Amino acid sequence: MKIEETYLLKGRRILVAACGSIAAVKTPLLISSLIKSGAEVRCVVTPSAAQLVSPLALATLSRNRCYQDKDQWDPNEPKPLHIELAEWAEIVVIAPLSASTLSRWTKGLAEGLLASVLLAAEVPVIAAAAMNTGMWRNSFIQNNWKLLQRNPNILPLVPSAGLLACDRIGEGRMVEIDLIQLAITSGIIQKEKHGKLIKDWDGLTLIATAGPTEEALDPARVFTNRSSGMMGVVLAQAAKLRGAKVELVHGPLNLPSALLEGLSSHAVTNAEQMRKILERLQSSANAIAMAAAVADIRKVGGSAEKKLSKVNFLQSLGNTFEPVPDLLAELVQKKPIGQVLLGFSALTGNDNELLLQGKAKKVTKGCDLLMANPIDRPGQGFGEQPNGGFLLGPDETVRPLRTTSKLDLAHQLLDAMLLEMPSIIP
Ligand code: CTP
Repeated sequence: MKIEETYLLKGRRILVAACGSIAAVKTPLLISSLIKSGAEVRCVVTPSAAQLVSPLALATLSRNRCYQDKDQWDPNEPKPLHIELAEWAEIVVIAPLSASTLSRWTKGLAEGLLASVLLAAEVPVIAAAAMNTGMWRNSFIQNNWKLLQRNPNILPLVPSAGLLACDRIGEGRMVEIDLIQLAITSGIIQKEKHGKLIKDWDGLTLIATAGPTEEALDPARVFTNRSSGMMGVVLAQAAKLRGAKVELVHGPLNLPSALLEGLSSHAVTNAEQMRKILERLQSSANAIAMAAAVADIRKVGGSAEKKLSKVNFLQSLGNTFEPVPDLLAELVQKKPIGQVLLGFSALTGNDNELLLQGKAKKVTKGCDLLMANPIDRPGQGFGEQPNGGFLLGPDETVRPLRTTSKLDLAHQLLDAMLLEMPSIIP
């Protein structure tokens, strides 16, 4: 499943590097995915990576040469190769980053082609670590990792936990390819806008809600809607990539689980469960983005205990529904000073109708920002589709949001939320 529309990576020059970790067997999948998205890819492998994954496979998939240490001083190259590659790339991705390359890099050692490229590169670098749990927890490695985290132009992706090739169950697995590609796309969006990576959410906490909620009607039937959860999850990941502490509260999602990797997630089924978690978390947040499509109604008195036949079920519907409590309106009532609340409204109609309904909705809800989101336009809205609409702000300000990828939109919404935090912006 591709999570980003291809145009953001089209023609982008991406240098993919693989180090000596068994996760290098997944590097071809990343390259293949980037090529399908229209990117131009070149590869570098360290000597150990070349034993784990065939440089020929990487060259074939990338439609380019795969460079190794022996090529570094190739007299046929116009410049020393490490300089040529560092200047060619718009973004560098190390997937996987091994303990050994991490240590060489953070010590500033130009030993080998990749280590030299990393020292010479002045573009954003995304580094997805992968190693044995003991190695990952080693204090020298952790100190080196902190150095990466402190560097504003490096985006380190912490390994996830799972069964490792050494049979250990623990931290050390390289994060999934989908997430690495999301981080690359996010890096490209930021580079386009600021010329570099920006971690402007550092020190801030965002609560994002995502997906539909479900209200049980009986043991078999539920009332819900078609939200996939993509907008809220992508918003949460984008905020995390910008340095935020993120709490994701989500209903049943229709997304690859890889997209949730690294997030502090709270899975719920119905609105009441979502409400309880939001109540507990609200005071800790600088901003809340209510991207969840909370189900509108539920059965008075809760789900029926016994499943009814179709005919009896239909007859039982009668007047037995009530509206689900409006969680966003409740958050507005209890909001601490300075907290920014962003709501979403799924609307249909032309732009004028959209604005009219959106403005009315913003007044009813009382949130600081509201995205009026058309869901009746071809190729836009649910799932992986691009999204756009209008962002309604304080004092009746209206900002058109051109139709773009959900990740690009997420960055724009994060920018807008930051602007509503006056104490944060100088
Ligand atoms: N929301 C909520 N609690 C609800 C319903 C919605 O917190 N019970 C939040 C959603 O997360 C979203 C916004 O309020 O941020 C959407 O409000 P809603 O009234 O559902 O707007 P529309 O999508 O425009 O729905 P409708 O047209 O049915 O009024």
